[in-house]
Parts: sequence; C-alpha cells; structure tokens
Amino acid sequence: MNEATANMNAPALLACPNMIAIASGKGGVGKTWLAATLCHALAKSGARVLLFDGDLGLANVDIQLGLTPEKDLGAVIEDRMPLAGAVTPFREGDFDIVAGRSGSGNLASLPAQRVAELRNDLIKLAAAYDKVVVDLGAGIDRAVRVMAGPAARVLVIVTDEPTSLTDAYAFIKVTVKANPAAAPCVVVNMAANAADGHKTYETIQTVCRKFLDYDPPLWGVVRRDARVRDAIRAQTSLLTRYPGCAAAADIEALANRILE
Ligand SMILES: Nc1ncnc2c1ncn2[C@@H]1O[C@H](COP(=O)(O)OP(=O)(O)OP(=O)(O)O)[C@@H](O)[C@H]1O
Ligand SMILES: [Mg+2]
Repeated sequence: MNEATANMNAPALLACPNMIAIASGKGGVGKTWLAATLCHALAKSGARVLLFDGDLGLANVDIQLGLTPEKDLGAVIEDRMPLAGAVTPFREGDFDIVAGRSGSGNLASLPAQRVAELRNDLIKLAAAYDKVVVDLGAGIDRAVRVMAGPAARVLVIVTDEPTSLTDAYAFIKVTVKANPAAAPCVVVNMAANAADGHKTYETIQTVCRKFLDYDPPLWGVVRRDARVRDAIRAQTSLLTRYPGCAAAADIEALANRILE
C-alpha cells in the first residue's frame, strides 16, 4: 500500500466535527440544491458557513447560485493554488463557496493522491467555519467516499424511486462498512407530504436494519415544491426567492436540527 492509498483508507482518523457531507448514490435527487439551501439556512441562523463543491466530475454549485467565481477548484488543482484562494463569498446567502470547475469534468480523473490532499486541505480550511457542507457527486466511487470520509455527519438524500433507494442503500453500506462510526443519516427529498416521506424512510430503514444491522436515523423530510425548480432556473436561493414556502420551511427545520 502506498502513502496515498493509506491516506485514503483512514477517514476515521481525520474526522472533522463541523463537516456535513451530502450524498445519495443516485444522481439528480437534489443534493446540490439541498446543500446550497441548507447553507443559506445555516447562515441565516448566524453560523459561519462554507459550501464546498465536492462533485469533482460535474460541479454546478456556482451555476445553481448564479455565481461566477474568479478562482475555483480547477485553479487549486492546476496551479497548486492554496484552497483558501478559491473561497468565493456568496453575498446573497452570507456564506462562502469553493466552486468546482463547472462544465469541465476534468477533476473527475484526479489521481488518488490529489483527491486525498484536497480532502486534507479542506479539513484545515474547515477550522475557519462553524459548518462546512460538502456537496458530493453521484455514485459511490472512491473520490466520493474519500471526500465524505472526514464528515462527522453524512446526510444521504433519497427519494421514493426504487433506483434512489437502491443506490442510497449501496452508499450507506459502503460507508458503514468502511467506518462503523460514520453513522449516515437519511433525508427524504421530493416527498409528496410528510407521511409519504416517512414511508420512504421506513423502506430504507428496513433494508439497512435487515442486511447491515444498522438503523439509520431520519434527519428530515423535504417536500416536493414547484418553487425549487423556479428558484434554480432563476439562479437564486429558494430562501431569497420564496421564503416560507414548503421546501424552504423543511430545509430550515433540517438546519435547526443540525445546529441543535
Ligand atoms: N424538493 C424539491 N422539490 C422539487 N424539485 C426538486 C426538489 N429538490 C430537487 N428538485 C429538482 O431536482 C433537480 C436536481 O437537483 P440537483 O441538481 O440538486 O440534484 P443532484 O442530486 O445534485 O444531481 P447530480 O447527482 O447530477 O449532482 C433540480 O434541478 C430540481 O428541479
Ligand atoms: Mg449535484
């Protein structure tokens, strides 16, 4: 085992108490939107917050929020710029962002050692914040697991679609097996209502209990809300555009739980 591999296999040693990773397995279930909106809600409560675009393949935090960062992770990787140099303030939401390189995809093929270095730099940068939210890419490949590794809390986003449930289960499985202390939590997104959201949660809870002997806690249910798409299309945070709407209220409840 070389040094980089050893580094990547030691997430428990690098636990970062204020880091929250947003994962899902399946793509398109709302990770990026939820991560950005959660940051806004946390910041509204007075926390110093950093949103890190950990989707090394298809970064798009900056696009969703209508930001044009001068520096991004591409500059950190290519020019060996310190990670702190890529911090961009998102003034509308009063939190900071480290954007990936949108529309490039070239960070997807980073060598293992560079991913591990990036993760370690993020752990150092995290000390300047109360909360650091990491928006992960879809899938459960090594880069995703490495970026999720140090997070004290991993929120697994799931919808009621069987493909989402299966992929979320796969993510929980590899996470729990790699690090039993990781304790991933479930957040149901795009639920028709709270009761439906709980049903979706019970489905994944049942399989995790049965096959993993692990009981994932439910951390939130976020309702499907047409205003989410509208806010994304307008490249604005939902909390600015439609404060108090159903999905905004659900994200604020999740933020309060995280801050408890
Ligand atoms: N609560 C919600 N209500 C309605 N629509 C939603 C909700 N959450 C997410 N969406 C829709 O889902 C789409 C995908 O969201 P998003 O890009 O955040 O997913 P993702 O999991 O980050 O995708 P990827 O895996 O490709 O990175 C959004 O463009 C939005 O239209
Ligand atoms: Mg995304």
